[in-house]
Amino acid sequence: MELSTIILAAGKGTRMKSDLPKVLHKVCGKPMLEHVIDAAKAIGSTRELVVIGSGAELVQQSIGDVEFVMQEEQLGTGHAVLCTRDALKGSDGTVMILCGDTPLLTTDLLSNLANAHQRSGSKATVLTAVMPDATGYGRIVRAEDGSVEKIVEHKDATEDERSIREVNSGIYCFDIATLFSALDQVTNDNAQGEYYLTDVLEIIKRSGAKINAVIADDFSETLGINSRQQLAVAEKILRRRKNDQLMADGVTLMDPSSTFIDADVEIERDTIIYPFTWIEGKTKIGKDCVIGPNSRLQNMTVGARVTAQFIYGHDCEVGDDVTIGPYVHLRPGTKIANRVKIGNFVEIKNSNIGEGSKLPHLQYLGDCDMGSNVNVGCGTVTCNYDGKKKYRTTLGNNVFVGCNTNLVAPVEVEDDAYIGAGSTITMKVPKGNLAIGRARQKNFPDWNDRRKRD
Ligand code: UD1
Ligand code: MG
Repeated sequence: MELSTIILAAGKGTRMKSDLPKVLHKVCGKPMLEHVIDAAKAIGSTRELVVIGSGAELVQQSIGDVEFVMQEEQLGTGHAVLCTRDALKGSDGTVMILCGDTPLLTTDLLSNLANAHQRSGSKATVLTAVMPDATGYGRIVRAEDGSVEKIVEHKDATEDERSIREVNSGIYCFDIATLFSALDQVTNDNAQGEYYLTDVLEIIKRSGAKINAVIADDFSETLGINSRQQLAVAEKILRRRKNDQLMADGVTLMDPSSTFIDADVEIERDTIIYPFTWIEGKTKIGKDCVIGPNSRLQNMTVGARVTAQFIYGHDCEVGDDVTIGPYVHLRPGTKIANRVKIGNFVEIKNSNIGEGSKLPHLQYLGDCDMGSNVNVGCGTVTCNYDGKKKYRTTLGNNVFVGCNTNLVAPVEVEDDAYIGAGSTITMKVPKGNLAIGRARQKNFPDWNDRRKRD
């Protein structure tokens, strides 16, 4: 079945009180609009037309891999859908309509709707939900035989209609040709002076076709986000869903309520996550790791059997069998090979650390290419910046760097070289050499006795 999707996202989102377009506010680490797009793609939608208006430029910059349709003036949901007419010219089959501010919908929910629409052979299927409090929503008005008659918006509803708790979720499937011919007949003669998409149902019904309705099992999946309070509710639901999924897949979360894992994170089985840990963005973690407590990992790729506690790492890669922490900052562009040991109070930026190397305590390594089995003494610093430019430091394999060494870049230390503690290295150290770059020690005999005498 050819399935196109229209996602309505042109509204202002006034109640968010925000400079950011509503649909770009993040839930579980990604913009709510992206949750909706991903759900549509997951059920096999082949085209996603996103209707934008307010903050259009920002939405276009932030969201990729969809087609954008401009709605210059926001004249209502019906008008928004009409704006896609040219883009859909020549398409037939089914179009699914979604809103950009319903990040809680699931692929199960959407595929149930699409399948029910297909099976029924209807021209229009609306997804409804029974709400504990239906205030604000369009109400589903059914005829005596139970069939859907029309949708009445809250502001236009009579007292009787307002007592209906079955509401329009704002999610529909339509036969494309039927939808656009009905939209041509929609007027803005209503309480809000808007062209309502919901009016097409009554128009289609009057033409003699049957309206199909699917009731969502869980109304919370259809919740729309209009305010920061609702954003916080959605955040909680999506985070719990993500954590439950990870546990079902074999990941241990010591305390799910204090563990925050973004929607697109991947973690392999038998990894244990300790509390107060944030795992964000596109982070991927392998098997049998122990992560946390108190760690924040953003867009990191982590191998298997890695231990990381009290760390902050972002946009970097870590191999297998690595131990990190406590109190480590891994900054962008860093690649840590297998079996590396990084101890406490270490910062690494834009560097490659070779297999089996040890950085046990108190180091700053920036713009450094390090071979394998290097031992870096406590307090070692790469001096990578001269106030104008950054330079690289290169350390070969099996290098031993004594404590408190300054490596003044650009500088190279070849394989098997040793550096004496307290050195400031400004020149290349050839292979296998010992380099000492510090003032020679002088002792002054009887110095203290003389001091006391004077
Ligand atoms: C709409 C439905 C209502 C339903 C509710 C579910 C209509 C007339 N009403 O009401 O029956 O219960 O959703 O949440 O459709 N938008 C545009 N262009 C516009 C107007 C809106 O793109 O000109 C977008 C908004 O950005 C939003 C979506 O359409 O993503 C829904 O618009 P909104 O104003 O929130 O409609 P509701 O009043 O919530
Ligand atoms: Mg609204």
